[in-house]
Amino acid sequence: MEKVSLADGFDSFEEPWSPRLAAELNGQAVKLARLDGEFVWHSHPDADELFWVIEGGPLDVEFRDAPTETLSPGELLVVPAGVEHRPVAREEARVALFEPSGTENTGDAGDTGDDRTNDVTELDSGVSRGRIGVAIGDGESGTGAGTDGASR
Ligand code: NI
Repeated sequence: MEKVSLADGFDSFEEPWSPRLAAELNGQAVKLARLDGEFVWHSHPDADELFWVIEGGPLDVEFRDAPTETLSPGELLVVPAGVEHRPVAREEARVALFEPSGTENTGDAGDTGDDRTNDVTELDSGVSRGRIGVAIGDGESGTGAGTDGASR
């Protein structure tokens, strides 16, 4: 077992909309993402998605049929499966995401054709060495190590 420093994790990369896998448990992924500006409208047909602002923001989560929710550090929101949403970070936000492993970041919107569609990648070793041990042990390639994006 090895702890993960969220601060070190967020500091280990700079690209916005490029989530890093911090941990996995019970088929769920904990991802760290730096959000900046507007994302695309999308939904995740089969996955609830949790946004937890750790630092920065505020982060607006816009909905088609409901008022925008604005998240400041220390606040979280669950977007139910199938609900169309668009995250908009007015200032860069450091956000933790909880969702099923393999959830794609752009959901039903698919490839956005720009740098906002990203595969989830591992945190650098040393930040979350414990997670790599899990990946080797589970013998499955599809749980986040590159094939699927994360969500927002
Ligand atoms: Ni999403």
